[in-house]
Amino acid sequence: MDIWHVRGGKKLSGACTVQGSKNASLPILAACVVSPLRAELTNVPRLRDVDAALRILRHLGCRAEQEGNEVYIDSTGLTRCDIPHALMEEMRSSVIFMGALLARCGEARLSLPGGCQLGRRPIDLHLAALRQLGAEIREEGSEIVCRGGRLRGARIELPFPSVGATENVLLAACAAEGETVLSGAAREPEIAALQEVLCAMGARIGGAGGDRITIDGMTPQREMRAKIPFDRIAASTLACAAAATGGDVELREVDAQQFSTVLYFLNRAGCDIILQNDRVRLIAPARLRGVGALSTAPFPGFPTDAQPVLMAALLKARGLTRITETIFENRFRQAPELRRLGADVRVEGRVAEIRGVESLRGASLTAGDLRGGAAMIVAGLAAEGETLVRDAGHVRRGYEEPDERLRALGAVIFTETDT
Ligand code: EPZ
Repeated sequence: MDIWHVRGGKKLSGACTVQGSKNASLPILAACVVSPLRAELTNVPRLRDVDAALRILRHLGCRAEQEGNEVYIDSTGLTRCDIPHALMEEMRSSVIFMGALLARCGEARLSLPGGCQLGRRPIDLHLAALRQLGAEIREEGSEIVCRGGRLRGARIELPFPSVGATENVLLAACAAEGETVLSGAAREPEIAALQEVLCAMGARIGGAGGDRITIDGMTPQREMRAKIPFDRIAASTLACAAAATGGDVELREVDAQQFSTVLYFLNRAGCDIILQNDRVRLIAPARLRGVGALSTAPFPGFPTDAQPVLMAALLKARGLTRITETIFENRFRQAPELRRLGADVRVEGRVAEIRGVESLRGASLTAGDLRGGAAMIVAGLAAEGETLVRDAGHVRRGYEEPDERLRALGAVIFTETDT
């Protein structure tokens, strides 16, 4: 258990680079299974979720090592195509190994990824799409057993632009005979990052970033090198922390386009946003203003993963903010904890209303999920006194050394870890 000690009242200031993307790293690590190769990945963030993905790769018989932000994978020695419950349970997004294993081995066996704090997290869209590629998929108790044999290209239409389902189709369709056309695809930047890596591995893919992607087999390469792009949600989190504290922070080596909706609402809240090449500078006023109505949506809409941290930044804003969460059914879990600081956040189903208060007082909070935990830290930075955030490891699943990065910007934050 980590206990984050956050002392509020300090304006964040200075410049920092942003970690590599957790949500780009995971599908790219799974891609290394698609064909036997040696891969060198740079800018890979040091995260608990990356550790979990490396453990899965080793379980499958691959070599998988991380030194700092460099990862070396050798998947030539892959010997199995099953992921046991214990490893699936560590990280539900391991379901993206299903497409990669089908492509490599023609079969895959995983335990059903459970729901999580955000909601049921079904995988019906993944399974329907893989069946259209010719995979026979049976649910045997809590296990999913896939037999692919030779996958066949297909025309697949996703009824919802699921990020994970899109990734599973790209990973599996590389090995399919004939062309696959995926319509209704997710447009998140992580999909384009995956396409780039699969193309470097010899796949013929085009269209990622749009809602129609074509995949037409692959000529496997034996080597691959790739750099993980920056994490747009970690960047959004730092921007919200700067905004929450009336700070002046410059984020470096980022692409503002990838979190432009977050920057748009921070600007609406009163922050000056200065874009210069791969740098984004945010200068916040002493007190933000409410931004009115905001709905989360699939990319390029406002990202659901940034919703909790923007909520935290707006707790003292003058006026009303009304957030509608359209992606997950239970993503306001941070609200009751934020109220313990004195915040006025009222949740009715998928809508949260935030009425800014003059001040927040430090309190003892408990993180229930990754982005909710980050939101509590952001709120603690804006509260008077000390806020404690008890965290069963959620935050370090997705943020690389968040305490060190925030301290470098002037935050007073430290952690104690009790076993
Ligand atoms: C990815 O999850 C991200 N995770 C999530 O980030 C992110 O919130 C989400 O995309 C949306 O952007 C990773 O990339 C590892 P989805 P994923 O499939 O792929 C429903 C974080 O904090 N759905 O786009 O699971 C689903 O229940 C994490 O970094 C189905 O109904 O998201 C959800 O309501 C949290 N059936 C919605 O679609 C399916 O088969 C979005 O899911 C699949 C999804």
